[in-house]
Amino acid sequence: MKITISQVPNQKDQTVTIGAWLANKRSSGKIAFLQLRDGTGFMQGVVAKNDVSEETFELAKNMNQESSMYITGQIVEDTRSPFGYEMQVSAIELIHESSDYPITPKEHGTEFLMDHRHLWLRSKRQHAVMKIRNEIIRATYQFFNDNGYVKIDPPILTGSSAEGTTELFHTKYFDEEAYLSQSGQLYMEAAAMAFGKVFSFGPTFRAEKSKTRRHLIEFWMIEPEMAFVEHDESLEIQEQYVTSIVKSVLENCKLELQVLERDTTQLEKIQAPFPRISYDDAVELLKEKGFTDIEWGVDFGAPHETAIAESFDKPVFITNYPAEIKAFYMKPHPTQSDVVLCADLIAPEGYGEIIGGSQRIDDLALMQKRYEQHNLTGPAYEWYLELRKYGSVPHSGFGLGLERTVAWLAGVEHVRETIPFPRLLNRLYP
Ligand code: 4AD
Ligand code: MG
Repeated sequence: MKITISQVPNQKDQTVTIGAWLANKRSSGKIAFLQLRDGTGFMQGVVAKNDVSEETFELAKNMNQESSMYITGQIVEDTRSPFGYEMQVSAIELIHESSDYPITPKEHGTEFLMDHRHLWLRSKRQHAVMKIRNEIIRATYQFFNDNGYVKIDPPILTGSSAEGTTELFHTKYFDEEAYLSQSGQLYMEAAAMAFGKVFSFGPTFRAEKSKTRRHLIEFWMIEPEMAFVEHDESLEIQEQYVTSIVKSVLENCKLELQVLERDTTQLEKIQAPFPRISYDDAVELLKEKGFTDIEWGVDFGAPHETAIAESFDKPVFITNYPAEIKAFYMKPHPTQSDVVLCADLIAPEGYGEIIGGSQRIDDLALMQKRYEQHNLTGPAYEWYLELRKYGSVPHSGFGLGLERTVAWLAGVEHVRETIPFPRLLNRLYP
């Protein structure tokens, strides 16, 4: 019977065949230990000289890393491995002999590994990170589907900027100027007026000259948008959503977290509600912590966010930033006119901002005024203003950056390891 490694726990004592690659091997005179992988998991195959033909034993001993095969044997329990099972091999059918695989079990530099990303993805650690990414995506669909949201796909090619004009990728759209989407938000607002509660999940692009461990040029964002939902209610939705993905990863990615040596005690503490601190109070807190240069009105950088996050053992919302440093669409605070109804959610352990969200301006005249202040003219925005013209309602939404969330939950230092093929300031290959 042909099965996958993921199905092995159901096949104890059975003789099965698995299509696999050789990740690594070790052998002595009488026994060979093959580290097998098949995409669904990793498992050891034990080839004992006395149990197999001479030909098979020679093959097992001499096979090169990443050779592919059909391997047959009996599944037995193996209490020493975290996986819990191994195969007592009886036969091997070589499919393709690999030679000189560039990524060997020794240490390699990051640039080398990044140049070989198409192969690096096969490694145990990268496999674990991608499985956690996949679980977050799965849990995201589950959370929003269970809570009555409709998935809506905003366009990638757009005629206007959503977040700010300096970070746009330009392209030609026949005779028009077009841009790659920085955020689907404006379209999601239109969708919320049609479907009530909506979410999107798709790639977004920022032509940012940032070379930090938190910045990608192309990243994936989850953007929920809700009609008749005020800012405070949106924060509650955000903490429930984040709590649900943390819980799913803890429950369904135990092996992966172990491979990554993630200290899960920090993650187990993550439960709603999350603390909230206003921008005003955050500035005071930073001054107390010795950031003497910080003044009201400046945006926070990574060191500031990390310092604020250190005061809490859960993600923390920094709310009500100065209007000046935030996007044009954010609704002013009702009693404090120089700040807006927004929040950034800062992950613990130095992983930085994972969510940016706000209540949106629903008043047509005020939105028109913001357009003038931000020099946002032209037909591309007309449709957006019309949302305020025909039955405008209070509405809020947010964007969660998938890669930063993966980095946090997987405990991975740099976002370049959290997306299959990262696009970075100096990298478009492979
Ligand atoms: O804070 P941002 O820019 O917010 C928006 O785009 C809103 N329009 C979202 C909304 O309200 N619908 O981006 C949201 C999140 C950030 O918190 C961060 O997690 C992630 O997207 N992000 C990036 N991730 C990786 N690389 C980058 N260059 C990122 N820029 C933002
Ligand atoms: Mg932001």
